[in-house]
Amino acid sequence: MLWNAELYDNKHAFVFQYGESVLELLAVKPGERILDLGCGTGHLTEKIQEQGAEVVGLDASPEMIAQAKENYPELDFNVGNGAYFSFDQPFDAVFTNATLHWIKDADGVIRSVYHVLKPGGRFVGEFGGKGNNQLMMAAAETVLKKHGYLKGDFVLPWYYPSTAEYATKLEAGGFRVTFVTHFDRPTPLQDGRDGIAKWFNMFGESIFKAAPKTELPQILDEITDLLQPTNEVDGQWFADYKRLRFVAVKE
Ligand code: BEZ
Repeated sequence: MLWNAELYDNKHAFVFQYGESVLELLAVKPGERILDLGCGTGHLTEKIQEQGAEVVGLDASPEMIAQAKENYPELDFNVGNGAYFSFDQPFDAVFTNATLHWIKDADGVIRSVYHVLKPGGRFVGEFGGKGNNQLMMAAAETVLKKHGYLKGDFVLPWYYPSTAEYATKLEAGGFRVTFVTHFDRPTPLQDGRDGIAKWFNMFGESIFKAAPKTELPQILDEITDLLQPTNEVDGQWFADYKRLRFVAVKE
């Protein structure tokens, strides 16, 4: 996927703004060496450094890393695959916000994180959990079917595991899970009813790959209509998010 780093920073800043509460869970100690896995445009990476850590950012998107380097030239940012990476020097903690749902190879992520952590190091993160965007995806499925652009099953482009599934993977990967929670987090969108179309344009373009580009505005409008009863309250539109938040310690 080609990321639009500017649209991300301007209209979808909630992604890293919500991440600030995940940072509290990370509880940085000054002097720690920390990896920000899926650092995007670097805003949380910089917050980790502000708290006294030596921080390294990693992201699969060259566009995001270019923007991160422009935002924070003094920090160390790298392009790399989140399911297959290594570093010469080990880390005290790996932090990840709003990234793991993009990587279907969850075992690869856990394996890589395990290898870069010191013994006793922690893996702290948040991402989309089971049922994330359920209403938005159901609406997209209905409208794509109606227009004849869904032949087989509707396949989510993201990985949204349950608590049990992810904790089991972490344990199998050599971690002790010390905290996990799966919670609803309705996320306010900008720009009124256009917010739904903008969300799909930013994050979910691949869902519509069978539809001609010229029909997209109509399809997105119909999706928005279907979502009005559930995803709009007094003129404010929401993305129906369910998040999984966890802390796991390398044994
Ligand atoms: C997000 O964190 O904003 C996000 C969640 C699921 C899919 C795409 C984006």
